[in-house]
Amino acid sequence: MAPSSSCLCLFLLVVCVLSAVGNGESSSGLMMDFYKESCPQAEDIIREQVKLLYKRHKNTAFSWLRNIFHDCAVQSCDASLLLDSTRKTLSEKETDRSFGMRNFRYLEDIKDAVERECPGVVSCADILVLSGRDGIVALGGPFIPLKTGRRDGKKSRSTVVEQYLPDHNESISSVLDKFAAMGIDAAGVVALLGSHSVGRTHCVKLVHRLYPEVDPALNPDHVPHMLKKCYDPIPDPKAVQYVRNDRGTPMILDNNYYRNILDNKGLLMVDHELAHDPRTRPYVKKMAKSQEYFFQHFGRAIALLSENNPLTGDQGEIRRHCNVANKNHYEE
Ligand code: HEM
Ligand SMILES: *[C@@H]1O[C@H](CO)[C@@H](O)[C@H](O)[C@H]1NC(C)=O
Repeated sequence: MAPSSSCLCLFLLVVCVLSAVGNGESSSGLMMDFYKESCPQAEDIIREQVKLLYKRHKNTAFSWLRNIFHDCAVQSCDASLLLDSTRKTLSEKETDRSFGMRNFRYLEDIKDAVERECPGVVSCADILVLSGRDGIVALGGPFIPLKTGRRDGKKSRSTVVEQYLPDHNESISSVLDKFAAMGIDAAGVVALLGSHSVGRTHCVKLVHRLYPEVDPALNPDHVPHMLKKCYDPIPDPKAVQYVRNDRGTPMILDNNYYRNILDNKGLLMVDHELAHDPRTRPYVKKMAKSQEYFFQHFGRAIALLSENNPLTGDQGEIRRHCNVANKNHYEE
């Protein structure tokens, strides 16, 4: 190859690399501020709506955070979580792993506000992730810059939900494996579980630790409260019986969760095990000591989770309403 042409090749390569870095595009196909030209107000509108909803119903912020996990960890951040059941398919929302999930109808309010400004431009998958990001801030957590450009899936993934989302009593080995498949390490897993510093757990997920006899691993000081809240060995599925995940600061995303689980006050088996498994305990201890260390890993892990295998480019679609695929809404 003549020196001039190899020089040109190198030059072109450098230009390509620089332009890819320049607009922040990553291997996921997502980028910072994807809607800069097509809907510059998108992120502000979402932030404003999340704030308004939070003022009315504080627990909406818990839901936005939990949504990131339940959508992104099931194969792809594609808002498949939000689809309603159809005549042919069951929604992910109605599977057992989604038990207790709430506030989906308020997500439509956010979508509607964005649609009023930029119809047909911003995906539900991005709205789901960005509302989660803003929910974290409302709860006192860190602001996490996140990429956008996700597109919406057309199908429910309800048949595989159980393969991807760990159960409340799953082993730490299995939990670590599931997150490792998304590039999230043990420190990241420990940080993400810190989400259980807010919100609630229904008695149906807890009674097996209370009846027929109380799990000896539970802190005896915490048991009377749990028994009072979950007085029924077989809870009435229609009654709303639950225990708050963090009695100390139930509305704040903070590192109190780690002190609770070290104190054997973790509600779920996975919470308890996290503090006792040798692979995760060192991080639990560090996060219990330092909120900054917790937030640092939390931000990193949320970013990874939110970039799990998204649909981009011309894959999927931009849904008009988050609870139905366009085809089901406009045709047939
Ligand atoms: C091993 C992994 C996990 C398991 C087994 C698990 C399981 C659960 C269960 C059983 C509940 C109680 C639901 C109810 O009874 O209403 C819950 C609540 C919650 N989870 Fe997780 N979770 C896991 C990881 C995560 C992650 C990674 C996040 C966020 C990134 C998260 C966020 C939440 C939130 C915010 C709540 C409270 C929801 C509310 O009060 O509405 N969880 N989780
Ligand atoms: C976990 O709990 C479910 C009930 O929620 C039960 O069916 C299952 O057998 C339990 N699994 C283990 C490994 O204990």
